Amino acid sequence: MRVGFLGTGEITAAMVRGLKGQGHGILVSPRNATTAAMLAAEVPEVTIAPNDAVVANSDVVFLCLLASVAFDVLPGLPFRTDHTILSVMVDAPLAKLQKLCAPATDIAIAIPLPPVANGGCPLPVYPDNSTLHALFGARNLILPQPSEIALNAHLGASALCSPILDQLLAGTDWLAGFTHDPAQAETYITAMIRSYLPATARGGELVEALKNLSTEGGLNATLRVAMAPARTDLRRGLDAFQTRLALKASNEGQT
Ligand SMILES: NC(=O)c1ccc[n+]([C@@H]2O[C@H](COP(=O)([O-])OP(=O)(O)OC[C@H]3O[C@@H](n4cnc5c(N)ncnc54)[C@H](OP(=O)(O)O)[C@@H]3O)[C@@H](O)[C@H]2O)c1
Repeated sequence: MRVGFLGTGEITAAMVRGLKGQGHGILVSPRNATTAAMLAAEVPEVTIAPNDAVVANSDVVFLCLLASVAFDVLPGLPFRTDHTILSVMVDAPLAKLQKLCAPATDIAIAIPLPPVANGGCPLPVYPDNSTLHALFGARNLILPQPSEIALNAHLGASALCSPILDQLLAGTDWLAGFTHDPAQAETYITAMIRSYLPATARGGELVEALKNLSTEGGLNATLRVAMAPARTDLRRGLDAFQTRLALKASNEGQT
């Protein structure tokens, strides 16, 4: 497949690395120049080309620009009816992309994360797209969504990573305060949390893992009670995304 990328930044670099060695021709646009040159040096399939040549010479085009830039750049590009367009951009709704990328109609929005470089990345998509499966399905977990709202909610949920890592760092600092070995404290906390996460959580496994850590009066249950306000704060923070992500308040009242 001929795979083009518009916008050569962090997420393009991760996807290009994830596609390395699979026989695809990969075109990346020249900006960012440093990242494009690095990818061309690292991935033999990569060629750098101007935006219009990326579009003209690709079967599938990944839109990896900031949305504000894309709204200026996309209208002048030579999209065709036989193109597949996969946007990974936040703040670029499907209806707008359909206008900007006409006459292409096979258009979907996906949410890759930087770990897509190594595989094992969850990849929500709306609507489902066979080209995304063909390119990334073998090594990643494609999660087709029933609506754009559901997809956008995954964007909100993807923001969980930072506050949860921050909590783990707070725990690491606390532990290292007693052991005076920050590196080993980090090793311990990271390995412990990884060991508790179910390999494939497809319904109930997280609840089961939590149940196994709920002995009344135990350290885990005690700390969880002490941190109960943080759960409310988390929910409030996620709810604050509703306007930006055009989410309906369809899950209000559930906890
Ligand atoms: N990073 C993530 O984890 C992630 C995950 C999912 C989705 N996304 C989405 O993916 C998009 C890109 O994010 P990113 O983190 O990769 O951002 P980024 O690193 O800033 O990449 C954006 C790229 O667009 C380039 N660019 C600017 N103007 C351009 C133009 N006229 N033509 C071609 N390229 C141009 C920039 O080049 P210069 O540096 O030269 O300006 C930069 O390389 C965003 O919409 C973001 O919401 C990101």
